[in-house]
Amino acid sequence: MSVTKGHFIVFEGIDGSGKTTQINLLKKHIEENNFICHDTKEPTDGLVGSLLRQCLAGKAQTDEMTLAALFAADRLDHILNDKDGLLKKLEEGISVISDRYILSTYAYQSVRVPLKWVMDLNSMAVGKLRPDCHIFIDIDPDIALERIAKGRKSNELFENKKRLTEVRNRYFDLFKQFKDTENIIIINGTQNIEKIADDIWKNVSKYFIIEGGE
Ligand code: ADP
Ligand code: TYD
Repeated sequence: MSVTKGHFIVFEGIDGSGKTTQINLLKKHIEENNFICHDTKEPTDGLVGSLLRQCLAGKAQTDEMTLAALFAADRLDHILNDKDGLLKKLEEGISVISDRYILSTYAYQSVRVPLKWVMDLNSMAVGKLRPDCHIFIDIDPDIALERIAKGRKSNELFENKKRLTEVRNRYFDLFKQFKDTENIIIINGTQNIEKIADDIWKNVSKYFIIEGGE
């Protein structure tokens, strides 16, 4: 008997935009609808992802080209890993929510590295797996930095106003570039947590309605 493939939903946004908060709520909502849901993130906790986290925290240092290549390598492992890779989960019928995916590398790394090269690095990943939708939680960098300062874990590398402003602008350039080929949903992240969760559910509930159900 063939298993219906899971759905793949990606959250995007600048640091501190509220992705983790909303991913937890969406996962709960999906499970309440009797679907199996796995949440994951990039950088991953795998071999390359751990190296990236050391760089983000300032415990290790490398140049921005190497970082771009590492993000692409971490993504391939995330997709292809035999044990818990994205393709395996989706093929088992498990839906997956990822905190960040390809658009993060395009938006963050293209600030310092040519976008064309970043896209070339990710072409294999794009060919293997594209999301059903990208949910972008939009928030002003000042608000994001205020939230980050209020105490959650922080990574030093990109969490400054100049970089986050550039990254946000690049996300919007990308949305124009991909408007006909990718399903991108932009959500106002300055609303309260419940309203944001409602807006997200309105856009993704269609994937979690059982045919023939109530
Ligand atoms: P991200 O995963 O995108 O970095 P988080 O979900 O960790 O973002 O949120 C960053 C901080 O902002 C957390 O302290 C969280 O509690 C808070 N937060 C999240 N969403 C909202 C919101 N809509 N309004 C106010 N604070 C929020
Ligand atoms: P993280 O602590 O997960 O931050 P957040 O919760 O805000 O997502 O750190 C991820 C950092 O890595 C964040 O600054 C964005 C950056 N990043 C890239 O620069 N390129 C990428 O491809 C990915 C996946 C993340």
